[in-house]
Amino acid sequence: MYINPYLFILPRSPGQIVWNYKDHTQHELDLNYASRLTQLINNPDLFDTHNIIDTQLLNAGILTVSKIDNPHWGWDELSKIYHIGTQNIPCEYTPQNVHEWSRQYLAHCTEVLATSAPAKNRPRCEAAHRIELPDPGDLRDDSLINALRQRKTCRSYTGVAMTLNDVSTLLYLTLGYLRERDTDDDSIAEELGARRSSPSGGGLNACEGFLLVQNVDDIPPGIYAYHPDEHAISRVNPLPKSVLGQLLGGQHFINNLPLGLFITARFDRLWWKYGHSRAYRMAFVEAGHLSQTFQLVATALGLNTWLTGAFADEQVETHLKLEGSAEQPLFFVGCGKSDGQAMCQEMRDLLCEVQA
Ligand SMILES: Cc1cc2nc3c(=O)[nH]c(=O)nc-3n(C[C@H](O)[C@H](O)[C@H](O)COP(=O)(O)O)c2cc1C
Repeated sequence: MYINPYLFILPRSPGQIVWNYKDHTQHELDLNYASRLTQLINNPDLFDTHNIIDTQLLNAGILTVSKIDNPHWGWDELSKIYHIGTQNIPCEYTPQNVHEWSRQYLAHCTEVLATSAPAKNRPRCEAAHRIELPDPGDLRDDSLINALRQRKTCRSYTGVAMTLNDVSTLLYLTLGYLRERDTDDDSIAEELGARRSSPSGGGLNACEGFLLVQNVDDIPPGIYAYHPDEHAISRVNPLPKSVLGQLLGGQHFINNLPLGLFITARFDRLWWKYGHSRAYRMAFVEAGHLSQTFQLVATALGLNTWLTGAFADEQVETHLKLEGSAEQPLFFVGCGKSDGQAMCQEMRDLLCEVQA
C-alpha cells in the first residue's frame, strides 16, 4: 500500500483536513482516523483489509494500491501545491457548443451579480487630500513600433522631476477607466463595464495602483492611491523614511527614481466572481499586462523604466495602508529620465575592476 503523494494535511481542531490537491478533494479526519493515518504514513505495510478505517482511507484515495508517479519538482512543496492545486480545476460540465456556453456563462454571471459585490471604488477622500489630474495629453512619440523597440529596463536614473502632465497621461493610459469606451458595449453588465487599455480578468479590474511620488512637479512627495474612475489621486501616506531601495529588495540603484507605481490586486473582487484559487494566477497575469502598458506609455513619453516584484511585502502594505486587507501589492514599476544604461555606474565600475 502507498500514501498518495499529492496530499497536504491542515490542523483544524479538533480534527485535521487531508487535502488531495491534485484531484481537489478534502477529507476531515477525527482523532481515530488521523492517528491511524499517522501509523500508516510511518509504515504503509500495516494496512489491514479488516480494518474499516484503512479501507475507508483507501476508498478516499488517501492510500493507493499502486505507486503514483510523482515527477521531480525543483522548487519547494508550497509552490508545487499551489501549481498543481490550481491545475485542472473541476468543471461540472464543459459546454459542448456556443449556445450551451452562452447559457452557462449567463447563469454564472447572473448568480454572481445577484450577490452583493465588494465595494468597487476606494471611498472618496476629503478634498484636501485629493489631487485632480489634468486631462491626459499626447505622447511624445505615438508610434507603437518605436515604443516596443525602445522599452528597456534601466538601472541608472538622473533624478530629474517628471511633469504632472506626463504623470496624468501615464496613469490614464495605464490604469484609467477610458472615457472613450464608456458607451462600448450594451451586452456587458454595468458592474463589469469599466474598460482600461489593458485587458482585465473577468472584466473585474481587480488590479489597482498606488503611486510613489518622489519627484514630480506639482505633486508633493508621498504615497497616493489612484482613482481610475475619476482620474484623480488621493494621499495615503508620506514617503517611507528609508530610501526606496531599502523597500525594494536592496536595489539601491533606483533610490532617485522620480515615480513608481505599486500594482495591487483586490482579491475580494476575484473571490466574488471566481470560486477557485486558480484566479490568483490571473491576478499576476493582469498585473503583468498593466506593467507592460505602463512601460510602453512611459517609453513613448521619452522616459525609461524599471520593474520589480522583489519587495518587503509587509512594509509595502503598511505604506499603502493595506494591512489585513483583501487588496495586496503584487508588483512595482517605475520610470524617469535615465542615461539609458542597463546597469548602474557602481556596477559598471565593479565590472571594470573585476575584469582588469
Ligand atoms: C517579472 C519581472 C521581474 C523583474 N524583476 C526585476 C528586479 O527585481 N530587478 C531588476 O533590476 N530587474 C527586474 N526585471 C527586469 C529584467 O531583469 C529585465 O526585463 C531583463 O533583464 C530583460 O531586459 P529588458 O527589460 O531591458 O529587455 C524584472 C522583469 C520581470 C518581467
